[in-house]
Amino acid sequence: MRKTVKGISESKQSGTKLTMLTAYDASMSALLTKNGVDMLLVGDSLGMVSLGYDSTISVTMEDMIHHSAAVRRGAPDAFVVTDMPYGSYHVSIEDAVFNGVRLMKEGGCDAVKLEGGFAYCDTVKALVTAGVSVMAHIGLTPQTATQLGGYKVQGNSPDSARRLMKEAQGLEEAGAFAVLMECVPFEVAAAITGQLSVPTIGIGAGAGCDGQVLVTNDILGLFAQFTPKFVKKYADLSTVAGEAVSQYCEEVRSGSFPDESRSFSASFETKTLLEK
Ligand code: KIV
Repeated sequence: MRKTVKGISESKQSGTKLTMLTAYDASMSALLTKNGVDMLLVGDSLGMVSLGYDSTISVTMEDMIHHSAAVRRGAPDAFVVTDMPYGSYHVSIEDAVFNGVRLMKEGGCDAVKLEGGFAYCDTVKALVTAGVSVMAHIGLTPQTATQLGGYKVQGNSPDSARRLMKEAQGLEEAGAFAVLMECVPFEVAAAITGQLSVPTIGIGAGAGCDGQVLVTNDILGLFAQFTPKFVKKYADLSTVAGEAVSQYCEEVRSGSFPDESRSFSASFETKTLLEK
């Protein structure tokens, strides 16, 4: 049965940890859902993982709608959260609501995620009022990482930890149904988790969060370019896939693939015709 925002909130009360992984296409969303993942994130990490960009900045609304709809088709009962891409909520609140509604209507997601703290509380409020559920994303926010001095841990000083706590509370008050924290010291993330009544989802934020999210390609060993400290590789699929691909090439070149068992045979009449 498809999880709901209410069901996700109840996980916090019951102390059941939430699992979330990224998906960008139908086959992966089906596999993740079949194997027990609570929430799928159509992250704008799509840009780096699947579209070959070196950051998330270039990802468009059209990209997010296209991939979100594919994820939905692969897992009709999954709880899908889709990232609002850079530029889709930064210019005006009207824009944010227009684009949030599009992601739900055309992308088929259950909720959107957006990056930012105090500056986006009114945006979150407007989206929720329009019926768009919002997961907030604080700490390291990749869309504006250059302003944060790069991909660095956030909330390390007393001032920035206090600020993160206040931002999380502000976003909860604005109506966010969950707060994702990226690259935050585990003590700070645990303290924020203890103060909020909505669930927190951590990525590089320690075990004290109510749930965890990672990029699927990272845990499967499918994204070799860069592996952050917080990633655990649960499989090494690029080695397995690499071996399969080179064996295929070798067999095609040697003529051993395809053999008769993987070929179709012509009828007797056709063979007779060919022999004439
Ligand atoms: O886009 C993404 O994959 C994300 C995760 C890093 C949380 O936002």
